[in-house]
Amino acid sequence: YCNFLKEKSRKEVLEILCGGLAREEYRGYDSAGLGVDGDKPGEVIFFKEVGKVAGLRKQIASSSVDFNKTFVSQVSIAHTRWATHGVPSTANCHPLRSDPTAEFCVVHNGIVTNNAELRAVLQKRGYVFESETDTEAVAKLFKYVYDSTADKSNLTFTELVKTVLKELQGSFAFVFKSKHFPNQVVTARRGSPLLIGVKTDKKLKVDFVDVEFAGQDVDNVKADTLQPTSPTSLLAPPSANPKVMRTQSRAFMSEDGLPQPIEFFVASDAAAIVEHTKRVLYLEDDDIAHIADGELHIHRLRRKDDQDQSPAQIASTRSIETLEIEIAAIMKGKFDHFMQKEIYEQPESVVNTMRGRVNFDTNQITLGGLRAYLPIIRRARRMVFIACGTSYHSCVATRAIFEELTEIPISVELASDFLDRKTPIFRDDVCCFLSQSGETADTILALRYCLERGALCLGVVNTVGSTLSRETHCGVHINDGPEIGVASTKAYTRMNTSVLLASPISLTERRNQIIAGLHAMPALIKKVLEMDSQIQQLAKTITGNKSLLIMGRGFQNATCLEGALKIKEISYMHSEGILAGELKHGPLALIDENMPVIIIMTQDSLYPKVQSALAQITARKAQPIILCNDGDEGIPKNAKTIRVPKTVDCLQGMLNIIPLQLLSYHLAVGQGYDVDFPRNLAKSVTTE
Ligand code: F6R
Repeated sequence: YCNFLKEKSRKEVLEILCGGLAREEYRGYDSAGLGVDGDKPGEVIFFKEVGKVAGLRKQIASSSVDFNKTFVSQVSIAHTRWATHGVPSTANCHPLRSDPTAEFCVVHNGIVTNNAELRAVLQKRGYVFESETDTEAVAKLFKYVYDSTADKSNLTFTELVKTVLKELQGSFAFVFKSKHFPNQVVTARRGSPLLIGVKTDKKLKVDFVDVEFAGQDVDNVKADTLQPTSPTSLLAPPSANPKVMRTQSRAFMSEDGLPQPIEFFVASDAAAIVEHTKRVLYLEDDDIAHIADGELHIHRLRRKDDQDQSPAQIASTRSIETLEIEIAAIMKGKFDHFMQKEIYEQPESVVNTMRGRVNFDTNQITLGGLRAYLPIIRRARRMVFIACGTSYHSCVATRAIFEELTEIPISVELASDFLDRKTPIFRDDVCCFLSQSGETADTILALRYCLERGALCLGVVNTVGSTLSRETHCGVHINDGPEIGVASTKAYTRMNTSVLLASPISLTERRNQIIAGLHAMPALIKKVLEMDSQIQQLAKTITGNKSLLIMGRGFQNATCLEGALKIKEISYMHSEGILAGELKHGPLALIDENMPVIIIMTQDSLYPKVQSALAQITARKAQPIILCNDGDEGIPKNAKTIRVPKTVDCLQGMLNIIPLQLLSYHLAVGQGYDVDFPRNLAKSVTTE
């Protein structure tokens, strides 16, 4: 956070930082830390705490800092961590510093993959590391480059950052602060999300910022090329290279062109800043943003893919957008947890996803973001659905109906495995990427892989402005505000709806049936939610078991996988989704009178086959819990049941998943677990 010509007390600054951290906490909550300007020029005061932001707040409250000290202009940085390098500890907590006097401080989201080499080189040069993090190497590299620069008179903060970034491999969103550049902040991204919020009382003269192309190659230099004798060679000015496309850089200005009080907020996502401003600018990979004297300048390192393009083809401005999310959307309201709130939002979510897209009078579906590409999609010889976790389950859930409606063969892929296998992709493939956050590293890498091979890439994404939504050729926004609970719930039902809407349905009768089913869906979801206390009781009977199996087939295969994922990630109980058709090929061995099994037996064409799976497990003395339709007379009389309304076969999973979401919630809450912050996880997995 930085303010310029706008007086703020230290207390206010700390509150902005802690408030923002608390809203970003769902992205990582192993530890939290911040660095604010001290009482003397150049001094930085750090607060760091293992665990959640509440702990950090306590530490701040009990400190003896002067909360009333005011700053007309200042820069402060803060971070919540999801540990990748080094355990959660105060030492590993960000901001990381270059040296005990904190000449340079850094917060970082991502992974520096050449950390080991950088560390070794810097250690050889006498740098003593205080943490196990990859980020500390970056802070120390700053000092090394700075100290090695003989003539500092023309050295700007941005130039320094460019030099440091050239040495780094991996993914990052950084924010840098330095005592050598007071009241300035530089932030940069490659692979991890970053946005800048702007708050000012005056009208801005421009609603975009020109990008200055830095004309430097981003090709990484190996760490061992850091020559102690000629480090300044790294700071050589850009060559007179014709690839330097623009040099002008328009920054924010008030209409009258005079300096104005202004505040800037840099964050990984909008939730952190929306209570302060809705005006944001999303940075792109290899953008370096420099904020100084109330102005924002953006520089872009030349990228490999820029080289084949004319300046006109490269986006040379970053526009300032107005966020549409409301603060209420990122608050829990009357609910105890975000996860619970989001489960309960599902009737509305489905409506929001369909709003303006489905005409229930004419049974027409219009998706503006896809229309121009539908002819290509219809002609595709195959499609590949790619995602991770819950979004992957959404691929599994929708594959069969998409295949049925389009007669296009579809393969579903876990993004990481897809990349590991270097899966063959061709120009005439259509690849569809599903992601709630739009920032999942594996999914983004898979997208870029497919783009390089010339496939048409479409996204089904929740987060507007996210990397996935910007880098795909076309797609569907699932349109329902942020999902904060780490366990994804409403995104699953919304993604399923979106993929259905995206399928170019040519079979009229089936289309009419599905559209009628979608129309009725919100009311049916509400009915299922009424079973909450019944499910809570059920959870009590399951708690304490080592494992829970969830079995089904056909459209319900995905429901089993997703239900099991929810249960393991928040209640820490082992749970496995089993395709009932595979039962005899191994999982049957797990069945005995002590193994709880939920069997999904809603009425579709595979009902008789699931009935036979039920017979097989009851023959092995299992006491199944049968998830079936209201009024189904075929269910054994004394069986434990969870009864849900019946809908169209391909939509049934959207109802069936809800009791399983509620079950996982109650299993976790009943044992006192923090459902919104399950151990070891983070909401957005922005590292590979
Ligand atoms: C599980 C969960 C994760 C995500 C996965 C992909 O509850 O939330 O499995 O589904 O990390 O995330 P997105 O959809 O943001 O790409």
